[in-house]
Formats: sequence, structure tokens, C-alpha cells
Amino acid sequence: MDERVTLRSHLDRAGAKTPNRLAIAAVIEGIAAASIDLADLIADGPLAGITGRLSGVNSDGDAQKDIDLVADRMMRRALLVTPVAAILSEEAELPEILDVAAPLCVAIDPLDGSANLENNISVGTIFSIRPRGNDVVSTFFEPGTAQCAAGFVVYGPQTTLVLAHNGRVDIFILDRRAREFLLVAQGVRIAPNTPEFAINASNRRHWHGPVRAYIDECLAGIGGNGGADFNMRWIGSLVAESLRILVRGGVFLYPADARPGYREGRLRLLYEAHPMALVMEWAGGSATTGRRRILELSARTPHQRVPLIMGSMRGVRDVAAIHEGIEPMFDNSDAPLFARRGLFR
Ligand code: F6P
Ligand code: MN
Repeated sequence: MDERVTLRSHLDRAGAKTPNRLAIAAVIEGIAAASIDLADLIADGPLAGITGRLSGVNSDGDAQKDIDLVADRMMRRALLVTPVAAILSEEAELPEILDVAAPLCVAIDPLDGSANLENNISVGTIFSIRPRGNDVVSTFFEPGTAQCAAGFVVYGPQTTLVLAHNGRVDIFILDRRAREFLLVAQGVRIAPNTPEFAINASNRRHWHGPVRAYIDECLAGIGGNGGADFNMRWIGSLVAESLRILVRGGVFLYPADARPGYREGRLRLLYEAHPMALVMEWAGGSATTGRRRILELSARTPHQRVPLIMGSMRGVRDVAAIHEGIEPMFDNSDAPLFARRGLFR
């Protein structure tokens, strides 16, 4: 991109008629500024005293590392001076009210995938912004369609900000010397039909029928009903997988499975699935549980989990088509489920 467009100038250009335009811009800039400091800390890791050691367990039972808590503090501090009524963070049990009169609410995963840090694999910050309803806390229990903006930062070889804002998806990269994000791609569109899937295949024996049927169709390759040789990736880092899908397409699956604690999937609706679904849809892709569009779901509890299948239009549609024909049950016997319905027959 020839012209040097900073995040700030990009946000300034947003349509004057967009409701809460200035407030949304302030929140995005606050998160972006905190993410620049967090990128420094992550890059230095042990040199900055980040040990990667466990500090405890969060309210939802996930292991918390020292860096998770630092990231949470950094994001909160940044949001405190923005027009935010309440924050729901992965690291806290309940939403925290900041200013009941402020126009926006933010759900945030301050540092997703921190288990990857010791291996120097990309991690990220995921955020979801929605207009405050009459009752502040109830705002978080509206469907994902209520979001007015969302996005994520990837702390990898580059620090990348993916922003769903004003109905489209734009990508920025941190200029480390100038300490500002610069626009590198606008109006990103996800390739509609990339034969690539991402799933933690070590859980195959726990999957339910539709997911096993879909992956088996992919593995059958060009000779199978899918009619293509599929490639596979699994990074184990949601932000990195999501950026890959934006760049080259494919389907990501973290389904529900039969393991205790995974009956509703692994990823959290409010600060993982909802924001990623907004990014996917605004980039021309799609996101579903297999049976329902993610953006139409409302959370019942702050840290509710949900199956997440997202990415290229064709792949997500195929996964949903298989789900339609198979009952939602945890049946690990191949024959009856596969016999009842194939994907491309
Ligand atoms: O927050 C959850 C997360 O770290 C995601 O970034 C990632 O997609 C997933 O967990 C990996 O899960 P698993 O270790 O089960 O493959
Ligand atoms: Mn997370």
C-alpha cells in the first residue's frame, strides 16, 4: 500500500453517521496502544521477567500464567480512560462496571493462547465491542449481532491488528519504530473455497458423527466426495489460525466433543467466538456451531463455551450440511452415522 495510513487516520475517516463513532474509535485506539506495550513485553519474554510460570487458575478453570494477568491489567488500564461502561475479561469471573453512563461495553481475551508462549508461537488479544443497553450487564447477553466492532491482535513475527469495523475487515501491522499501526490491507475477503482444514485431530475418538464425517471426507482427498486434496494445519492458537484463514481461506473447527468439560466446545462465546464470527462474516466468510449461526447466539453465562466452525463459505456450508442430516449425539460407531448421510451425495 503506497499511502501511509495510520490506525488513527483510518478511524478518523469512518463515516460521520456511524453511531458512537468517536467512542468506538477511542476504544479501538486504547486497545491498540496497550497491545503495542504488550507486544514489547511478549517479545522480551524472560528478559522482561516474564517466566511463563502458572500463577493460578481463572474462574473458568483455565491455567493462568503471569503474562495473562499482566495483559489483563494492561488492557483494563487502557480501557479505563475510554468511554466504556463495563468490561468482561476472560481473566475475571464477572463483568466489571466502569461507568454506567458510557456508551460501549467490551468483552476481551487479553492474551489468548498463552500456553504457546514458551515455544515462541504467536499469541493474541481478542476484543468485542457493543453498544451499552439500558441495563449494562445485560448488554453482554445480547446476540453477537449486537457487536458494532471487533478484532484481534496477533503477536507473531509481526504484530498484526485485524479490525472488523464499519462493516468490513482491515489489517494493520505495527511499525515498531514509529510505535503505530499502519494499514496494509483493506476490505479483506476470505477465499470462498480453499481445501484446507484446522482441527486438533488428537481428539478424533471424542468427536461426534458430523465432525468425523466431514474430516473423513477431507482426508479422502481428490478421489473422495469432496473432490479435492485437502491440506491440514493446527497451530493451537486461535488468533494465528484466524489470520491464516483471512489470508488464504480454509476451515477451522473446535467442535463440542465427548470429553468432560467439552460438551459445549472449548472456546468462549463472548470474547472468542462472537468477535471471530464478526470478522469472518464481514470478510465474506461464515461461522457456525454446525447447527446455528454464531452471531445469532446469546450467552447465558459470562464464560459460556460454544462449538466454533468458521472460515471459507464453502467449507463451513459443507460442515453445516452434514450436521443437518445427523442427529446431535455422541456416537463413536462409524458405520451407522456414515451410512445415513455423506456430505457430497
Ligand atoms: O483459548 C483457547 C486456545 O488457546 C486457542 O487459542 C486454541 O485454538 C485452543 O485453545 C487450542 O486448544 P487445544 O490445546 O485443545 O488444541
Ligand atoms: Mn482464549
